[in-house]
Amino acid sequence: MRLSALALTVTLAAGAALAHEGVQNPAVMERMDLMKGIGAETRALGEMVQGKTAFDPVRAAEARAALTEAAARIPSLFEARETDPKSEALPAVWEDWTGFVAQAEAMEAAARDLQTGSAQALRNSFADLGQSCRACHEDYRLDD
Ligand code: HEC
Repeated sequence: MRLSALALTVTLAAGAALAHEGVQNPAVMERMDLMKGIGAETRALGEMVQGKTAFDPVRAAEARAALTEAAARIPSLFEARETDPKSEALPAVWEDWTGFVAQAEAMEAAARDLQTGSAQALRNSFADLGQSCRACHEDYRLDD
């Protein structure tokens, strides 16, 4: 896959810890935590794809399962229009709810389609997952 896109996905997965500080609204915290978990699993896979860590089919399969499950939870955790000064969710999430849910479903499909049997197979299937993050963030998350 294109290395720049991969690097971007890994950076995106890594960059978020600070965004959490000072969040008041527990519902916003919960959806941020979901994304943070998604970020951590994606990073684990991205590092295997990049060769920063050794390919581990068991860990990769765990990440695939966690990402598939997490993607399925996105709609329920974002549905209520909860706000917080620290939130990076754009109003478009609720103004275009159908489109937002479609992006969550696209991520769920990409996660389910991850191939974790070999490093090469993982590499080939990882691009679609990264694309699903970027597509949603572009329209529904601040600064992306
Ligand atoms: C359906 C839309 C959608 C998809 C798909 C999606 N995200 Fe997000 N993500 C968001 C929104 C919206 C926020 C901002 C939430 C907030 O601040 O209230 C966010 C926030 C984040 C954050 C910051 C969390 C924090 O600590 O505040 C990370 C990290 C993240 N996403 C990673 C990912 C990765 C990696 C993927 C792909 C595997 C992904 N996201 C897929 C919508 C999505």
